[in-house]
Amino acid sequence: MAMLEIKDLKVHFEILKGKVKAVDGVSFNLDRGETMGLVGESGCGKTTTAFAITRLLPYNGHVVGGEILFDNMVLARADMATEMIELLELSKWLPKIETLVQNKENALKAFEAKGLDESPGESEILLSQEADFLKDIKEILSYKEKMEPEELKEVLQESAKGEVTGFFADRRKRKIEREIEEKMAAIRWSQISMIFQSAMNAFNPVYRVGDQIAEALHTHQNLSKDEAKQRVAELFDLVGLRAERIKGYPHEFSGGMRQRAMIAMALALNPKLIIADEPTTALDVIMQDRILAEIRDLQKEMHMAMMIITHDISVVAEVSEKIAIMYGGKLFEYGDIVSIFENSANPYTIGLTGAFPSIKGERKTLRSIPGSPPDLSNPPSGCVFHPRCRFAQDICKEKEPPTIEVTKDHHSYCHFAEEVFAGKLKV
Ligand SMILES: Nc1ncnc2c1ncn2[C@@H]1O[C@H](COP(=O)(O)OP(=O)(O)OP(=O)(O)O)[C@@H](O)[C@H]1O
Ligand SMILES: [Mg+2]
Repeated sequence: MAMLEIKDLKVHFEILKGKVKAVDGVSFNLDRGETMGLVGESGCGKTTTAFAITRLLPYNGHVVGGEILFDNMVLARADMATEMIELLELSKWLPKIETLVQNKENALKAFEAKGLDESPGESEILLSQEADFLKDIKEILSYKEKMEPEELKEVLQESAKGEVTGFFADRRKRKIEREIEEKMAAIRWSQISMIFQSAMNAFNPVYRVGDQIAEALHTHQNLSKDEAKQRVAELFDLVGLRAERIKGYPHEFSGGMRQRAMIAMALALNPKLIIADEPTTALDVIMQDRILAEIRDLQKEMHMAMMIITHDISVVAEVSEKIAIMYGGKLFEYGDIVSIFENSANPYTIGLTGAFPSIKGERKTLRSIPGSPPDLSNPPSGCVFHPRCRFAQDICKEKEPPTIEVTKDHHSYCHFAEEVFAGKLKV
């Protein structure tokens, strides 16, 4: 079993005009000590994938499909509510609803008797919500008198995702979510750490940067205050920050310095997994190389796994065993880096990278493909890439492609994956 398992992950954002399908059915694995590059044009869902793993999605982002497991522990699972509904057998929850109705009625009476003196606006809203809720429940309960048990069961199952079961399932789901959140808080930084694309907000502005890292070491690794300070000094040296910066506040750091401090923080607790989202973009090229080499050495030494998100294909070539190419929320090509570099099976990858540089080749950023990435709140039909794909056929407009394993550990999401892999479709 792999250390990190992402299975058919779907993350959607709620927005005013509907939803953005930022990650839409992504699956990959990462083993201990392994490095994977996650590559793709801006807005294809890379950071969202990282935030889903670290449970740092913004309030309007939800895992709506699939699951994430880390060391076999569930970090996210979309179908929890449904599972709960199944668990709540009808026979068990019918009496519960009756009790609930009774309680609500009593509460409502008490509320009315007491009057709405304190904060009338709020109480009124509350009262009307409670009243609506009661009305709905009563309506469902009234079926009990009118229907045969089998019929009732059907109706209730029909409305299983609706108000009533939803209410219980929601509460159960929230409870489970809370439990997962607590577990995650215990392992964030110590087992899974993240270098953020924007290092701006990673540190608390009112504390010294060095103290924040020392605090994490002190809490998670039981280091004494002096040992923690010593380790912070080592880490600062490692990422090329001068020792006197330890006493600095975040606002006194430049963007590049903050990013380096962020890297120090991510490495501090020897996590099992580091997710590095464009870790070196704010740094100059010399610093980029030095830091990447350091990260790589440390990672090897500590046997840490790393997911590195970048636009720079040469970075991926240097440090990764695996590569995942994303486009429009989908995983277009995924697997062993040598196989994909030597023989891509996906037109998007080929378009994106031109001819791949050799593994030891010169620095190369992504090439731009004519057209622009899709609007993920209204993605194209069939294959999301079809409007920009040179090989697009009718089937690509009509049907979502399958993901095909063209050779061992090499997967491609394309109707013509086999043909591209066999070199029958030339770019
Ligand atoms: N809070 C949000 N609300 C609504 N949509 C969002 C939100 N955050 C991201 N998105 C959308 O989700 C999609 C994926 O965004 P994401 O940040 O994951 O892309 P990315 O691959 O990391 O891009 P980049 O290379 O620019 O960092 C984009 O279409 C983006 O506009
Ligand atoms: Mg991003």
